[in-house]
Amino acid sequence: MTRTVYVNGQYLPENEATISIFDRGFLFADGVYEVTSVLGGKLIDFDGHAVRLERSLNELDMGHPITKEDLLEVHRELVRVNEIEDGLVYLQVTRGAADRDFAYPGSDTPQTIVLFTQAKPGLADSPAAKTGIKVISIEDQRWGRRDIKTVQLLYPSMGKMAAKAAGCDDAWMVEDGAVTEGTSNNAYIVKGNTIITRQLSNDILHGITRAAVLRFAKEAQMKVEERPFTIEEAQGADEAFVTSASTFVMPVVEIDGASVGTGEPGSVAKRLREIYLEESLKTAV
Ligand code: PDD
Repeated sequence: MTRTVYVNGQYLPENEATISIFDRGFLFADGVYEVTSVLGGKLIDFDGHAVRLERSLNELDMGHPITKEDLLEVHRELVRVNEIEDGLVYLQVTRGAADRDFAYPGSDTPQTIVLFTQAKPGLADSPAAKTGIKVISIEDQRWGRRDIKTVQLLYPSMGKMAAKAAGCDDAWMVEDGAVTEGTSNNAYIVKGNTIITRQLSNDILHGITRAAVLRFAKEAQMKVEERPFTIEEAQGADEAFVTSASTFVMPVVEIDGASVGTGEPGSVAKRLREIYLEESLKTAV
């Protein structure tokens, strides 16, 4: 089956979908994106992603090329026509195509909007969730507005490759001695009954999964501390995990070669994963 994608108002077979070589997303990484997971044919936390998209667009003085209602409709239609049971919907909005110039083009320049699906059968039953993942630490060399979900992902890609070269799964980025986040996820440690994760600021992406997981953790009477932590503190913690729309809650069992806790996924991460999947399915659309 040929995948159907959405480009600037049209549903097209993926091999017929094109955008301009002058697109500022291509030339300047002048674009923002969202990734929404699909479980059982339904979108997880669509509202959260739509709200964050609005915020990213506002922070970059970009227009809003589509209403939230229409955006939901496009997500649903792509899930339907591509018969996605479990997977992801990727959305990207750029400032559009204009002759190359560092200054933004006029606000009448049509923005580019692209959506496509990725099928991931069994997304919620990933084997990695049972074994946990291994991470390395790297210096955080990204720009200073990581709260905006831009498509400048080269440094996180380099981090992922460094992790793979070291026989690991992902990298945690460190700035001024403290962990900021993973290459494409938020980072946590657990000490006793307390979940520790860096507080929100321009230094990290305000994860939609993070918000939901912290809410569920508090509802389940777990203690949450939002503060920075170091790699050494993480290595000595009882548990560690990451969260994102594509991995939900994923245990971390090794950091820079040192086992975390027992070296197996911890009970808090396992429980939070279960709660997250159960609760977010209730509000899936
Ligand atoms: N990444 N931090 C970074 C740097 C991210 O790229 C992501 C998400 C997150 C988690 O955010 P959320 O819970 O809203 O997915 C944190 C997506 C999944 C990606 O780039 O594929």
